[in-house]
Amino acid sequence: MVDFTLHFPDNFLWGTATAAHQVEGHPADSNWSAWEGQPEHIYQGQTADAACDWWAGRYDEDFDRAAELRNNAHRFSVAWSRIEPEPGHYDDAALRQYVDMVAALRKRGLEPMVTLHHFTHPLWLEQNGGWRNPETVERFEQFTRVVVDALGDYVTLWCTINEPMIFATMGYLQGRFPPGKRSVRATTRVAENMLRGHAAAYYAIKELFPQAQVGLAKHMISLKSRFPQAVHEPALRSVRQFFNRAFVEALSTGSLRLGRHKVEVPQAAGTLDWIGLNYYYRFDVMFDLRRPGQMFLHQTRPRDGILGPESVGEIWPEGIFEHIKWLCTATGKPLYVTENGVPDPDDSLRPLHMVRSLRSVWRAIMHNYPVRGYFAWTLADNFEWAEGYDPAFNFGLYACDPETQVRTPRRSAELYGEIAGANGLTSEMIRHYLPDRAEELIPSVSVQQDVTLPQRY
Ligand code: FCB
Repeated sequence: MVDFTLHFPDNFLWGTATAAHQVEGHPADSNWSAWEGQPEHIYQGQTADAACDWWAGRYDEDFDRAAELRNNAHRFSVAWSRIEPEPGHYDDAALRQYVDMVAALRKRGLEPMVTLHHFTHPLWLEQNGGWRNPETVERFEQFTRVVVDALGDYVTLWCTINEPMIFATMGYLQGRFPPGKRSVRATTRVAENMLRGHAAAYYAIKELFPQAQVGLAKHMISLKSRFPQAVHEPALRSVRQFFNRAFVEALSTGSLRLGRHKVEVPQAAGTLDWIGLNYYYRFDVMFDLRRPGQMFLHQTRPRDGILGPESVGEIWPEGIFEHIKWLCTATGKPLYVTENGVPDPDDSLRPLHMVRSLRSVWRAIMHNYPVRGYFAWTLADNFEWAEGYDPAFNFGLYACDPETQVRTPRRSAELYGEIAGANGLTSEMIRHYLPDRAEELIPSVSVQQDVTLPQRY
């Protein structure tokens, strides 16, 4: 029997990730709370009113859970709608609560990573055009200054915007998130303004706290093209360029090239201290003449592989490697896996997903890609946007019932705790948690024992 440990670097961050609207409950008026109020938008007409009840103080017990998982970091977001309920009026009590939350993390030895925009913003901003309106760039900068002024003494890691291309495409191309539009023009406009918003926030944070480390979380999808490849391969390249790459390239070059929309945003060049990777699924891509409004592109679920709930793609953990490789190369910056996980209410897939994902992250580290941390999505089941509390979309290491607020650890919570505690993944853990898969996951021939980290790391 071969025994091995996949060691992770010293000071590697192990955490979970959450977002304000998904966990806090009792939301202030925002683009999402208004959207939830209308029929057909959310699974069974649900709302984020309960969520994980963090705003009423339950974050405290959940941070205990994060600490019990022997994590040393946690990523969460602040709700702009609470902090600036009316234009230019800031709510000190809300800011104080976020200061308390950061202090509660620090007290438990958890390094906070704070996201400034995770899909939600005040309703008044939305009514003023949201991110389609170029004025939002400056408003976001002002909001950033207020938050960073309040929290900056306790926070080093800042994530300006979560998944700008998901925000833009789900809200303005596919119409599944607010404001439910289907327009290529609006999509590119929103992405462009978010790029400007990120850059403005970057400079604002660095001006206030030069030692702060600022990045953003980029959602990347893996892609396959359908047969015949000659027809569909160009479609794959378009999706890859539009969705995965254009925004990231603009952060180095200052030029945003989204399909036919080309614009210079020179101030965006060089505005990253690190890049965040959110990775979940692989999709099939097809060229489809019936979809002119979607640029003739059709992104669909593969026919084989591990298939999750219907609206999502194939679950292919190893894809994380290619994204780390591309993102580190394109940006030249260190990377955090800012989200990675799987919807899996009965926890039948999660331990395997975790092991396969982390093995691929480790492999990337062995190839000298500077990966600095991993944040599992998510600590406890929460409000999964359009999917509401649909159990098929339970991503938590802990199960959480929004009605009773009872949390129950899943087995993968225990596994994640062991990995974080050991700062590594061992063959023993695999045998213990995945006895049926041990054969396939533990190579039986000539594995070097206790592999050391590359010199240049
Ligand atoms: C990501 C989002 C996060 C959560 C996970 C499942 O795209 O950033 O809020 O919904 O998907």
